[in-house]
Amino acid sequence: NPKAFIFDLDGVIVDTAKYHYLAWQKIANRLGIDFTHEHNELLKGVSRIRSLDIILGLGNVEASQEDKDKWLVEKNEDYLNYIVNMKEDEILPGVVRVLQYLKDNGQKIALGSASKNARPILEKVGVLHFFDAIVDGNDVTNAKPDPEVFLRAAQLLGIPADKSIVFEDAVAGIQAANAAKMVSIGIGDATTLNEAQYNFNDFTEINTDFLQTLVNK
Ligand code: G6P
Ligand code: MG
Repeated sequence: NPKAFIFDLDGVIVDTAKYHYLAWQKIANRLGIDFTHEHNELLKGVSRIRSLDIILGLGNVEASQEDKDKWLVEKNEDYLNYIVNMKEDEILPGVVRVLQYLKDNGQKIALGSASKNARPILEKVGVLHFFDAIVDGNDVTNAKPDPEVFLRAAQLLGIPADKSIVFEDAVAGIQAANAAKMVSIGIGDATTLNEAQYNFNDFTEINTDFLQTLVNK
């Protein structure tokens, strides 16, 4: 009986945080808002709309819905200009090996991301074919830490939640996985992600013995 292995996208499969940062920075600069790398950390796993509200909040900037809508479009157009140039070498270390191992062992693989750009990114970096299901920002109404995105993914794969495993780099994502009663695996700083059941700095630390333990659980 296969398990469901559900991957977040940004910060787990690819490091797109740097592109989000560059695109948001243009908007922030124009509004005279100081937007640093530390501020960018606050936006991990956070939806596009919520991200803009956080940035405006940093500068105590009030804006009309019309302006906000305009900036959201501009930000995304700019972001997509970075995305079109992404290559396979931007896949984070160890990710392809883990995807390949799971595929070779008959496991089910899904994406569970808040991004509305998930498909083009997976395609650009050449890993789209690994995924049996994709649930992204176009499909869900409740953002992480709500478990909706992961529950939908497991459902599409036909696997119960308690037979599902989630890889996440954001605190809200770990909380979403826990709320879904799935196995939560934190990728990144273990102190930040201390609510995860397991922690790794990156996928190079995840060996086949560990993957096999998850498969046999
Ligand atoms: C991920 C990223 C966030 C981003 C969100 C929406 O969760 O970690 O930083 O804001 O996706 O991405 P999008 O591509 O739809 O703007
Ligand atoms: Mg993420």
